[in-house]
Amino acid sequence: MAEDFDVRLTEKHYMPDPSYKQNSWVGDYATAYQDFLKDPERFWDTIAQELHWFSPYRKVKEWNYPYARWFIDGKTNITYNCLDRHMQNSRRNKVALIWRGEDDTERIYTYRQLYREVMRVANGLKKLGVGKGDRVCIYMPMVPEQIVSMLACARIGAVHSVVFGGFGAAALNSRITGAGAKVVITADVTFRRGKSIPLKHIIEEAIINAETVEHIVVLRREQHQPVEIHREMEVDFYDMIRGAGADCESEVMDAEDPLFILYTSGSTGAPKGIVHTCGGYMVGTYYTTKNVFDIKDTDVYWCTADPGWITGHSYVVYGPLSVGATIIMTESTPDFPDPGVYWRMVEEFGVTILYTAPTAIRMFMKLGEEWPGKYNLSTLRILGSVGEPLNPEAFEWYYRVIGKGRCPVVDTWWQTETGMHMVTTLIGEPMYPGFAGKAVPGVVADVVDKDGNSVPPGTGGFLVIREPWPSMLRTVYKDDDRYRKYWTTIPGCYAVGDLAVRNREGYIMVLGRADDLIVVAGHNIGTAEVESALVSHQAVAEAAVIGKPDPVKGNVIKAFVILRVGHIPSERLKNELLYHVRITLGPIAMPSEIEFVQSLPKTRSGKIMRRVLKAQELGMDPGDISTLEE
Ligand code: WTA
Repeated sequence: MAEDFDVRLTEKHYMPDPSYKQNSWVGDYATAYQDFLKDPERFWDTIAQELHWFSPYRKVKEWNYPYARWFIDGKTNITYNCLDRHMQNSRRNKVALIWRGEDDTERIYTYRQLYREVMRVANGLKKLGVGKGDRVCIYMPMVPEQIVSMLACARIGAVHSVVFGGFGAAALNSRITGAGAKVVITADVTFRRGKSIPLKHIIEEAIINAETVEHIVVLRREQHQPVEIHREMEVDFYDMIRGAGADCESEVMDAEDPLFILYTSGSTGAPKGIVHTCGGYMVGTYYTTKNVFDIKDTDVYWCTADPGWITGHSYVVYGPLSVGATIIMTESTPDFPDPGVYWRMVEEFGVTILYTAPTAIRMFMKLGEEWPGKYNLSTLRILGSVGEPLNPEAFEWYYRVIGKGRCPVVDTWWQTETGMHMVTTLIGEPMYPGFAGKAVPGVVADVVDKDGNSVPPGTGGFLVIREPWPSMLRTVYKDDDRYRKYWTTIPGCYAVGDLAVRNREGYIMVLGRADDLIVVAGHNIGTAEVESALVSHQAVAEAAVIGKPDPVKGNVIKAFVILRVGHIPSERLKNELLYHVRITLGPIAMPSEIEFVQSLPKTRSGKIMRRVLKAQELGMDPGDISTLEE
């Protein structure tokens, strides 16, 4: 890529009040970054020393391209740092978690209560035979038990694989079998927009042929009509922990032992099981939570993500708990029962730091300023964004309407693979709407051409990371070749797969994916997954899907479908296909448009050229089509 972009946007920037920088953990960005560059290992060592290690590491890093190991021979447990560490001081009685349901039910855990609950569930899992290294799939709605289950696994060294509760049976099945899960923890229902949506039958379907699964733990939420438990395999969540002691020492984990697997869509083929480890991930998420959100003990921190995604892993669960923050979690959707629910929560809980996604911000923009206008948002001091580019219009709205022009906006660029924030604008630094910012101290990011040479400001290129960092993925579960690809696509760099451009100040604007991933409402959807779901319907011969820009969701999915002989295009068939994708993959992967076509543009080797479809759709130049078949 060598396109020149309009970087006039750089002229427009906002300066936060100087008190932000004065009072922040990091202080001056440039100084902190220089400090890192002077001695990267010492930099990470200093951070790691703020956490507890059962026995110290003898070396900070070993880099054997493309494999990195961090905190060599160090022994720790992330839950010790998230829980036990806080038992030794006044955080013991601090609120760790405030949960609110759709019906305004509240559940509140102090750090001590959370600590005990995690140990009980950990003991319950042990009773089921779960031990160090076993994989446990967690498929739950956003309830405290979801967080408790994650921590309980980590406590005993079991590797959790959390699957977002909105995924359908086929998506869940491939993740359960991929990880070889021994136990699945789930719930009977999830509550959404005033309705209860059954989950358990999805599990029942998803474990057919999942031979490794020995037990299913079911959190039964419907009190008046409890769902039936099949005793052969299933156990009630609270039965499991009944009688389980609240004493469970944390397993001594090597820094490089796996902590969890989290599946993310790949641009081709099956989803990738991204593997994160105990030591490096802990240090990376602790460091960024503390410094990017500048969390203090007085903060009330709300990240709206579901723990089923990496944002929830790193910035609902592990990062915030390791710094001892008070976190908010809700099962509510942002517009039910009305579009004021989030703002009411900000007012009622006195939220000081709010971290959400551009798609939500754009939805709120559409719904109008009167909703946030009804509530007192004056406790807010920092706003965050994640998941996709925060376009300048959405930035302005967030900054002005929610932050009242007072709160710095941290637009954080990172990935499931990176584990932690990589590029952002630290509070106190000038903010350029549309630009995520610069590499956080500890990270070396660059924008390069396909050979790995830096490109000048204003020229588009590939976003890359040049040096390993503690919370980087260590491998793709059972598919190390796919891991190696990250480091071999662009020589010497970790290729993130996003296109980006820098302004003259060195701020990075992320432009979108360079591959066949579609980011829909902040969630990665692989074209291959949706296509294979469509093709699994008996009427479909071939399918190709593309992302189409959408003012609220960033992108929506459009599918082009060739029908098998004997099937006739109709509205009814369209709906049937949509329903089929919904059941197979889940609502998030549903196309918003289906077009029946006679042929698809392909290369001579038979690969569908989605780029050509997209160009046609958007009335753009398709670029180099020399490989097109006809
Ligand atoms: C996109 C989510 C622009 C990007 C944490 C990346 C972003 C992918 C931003 C990773 C941002 C995430 N600005 N784009 N601030 N944050 N992305 O793995 O394309 O679900 O590669 O991790 O989301 O998505 P993932």
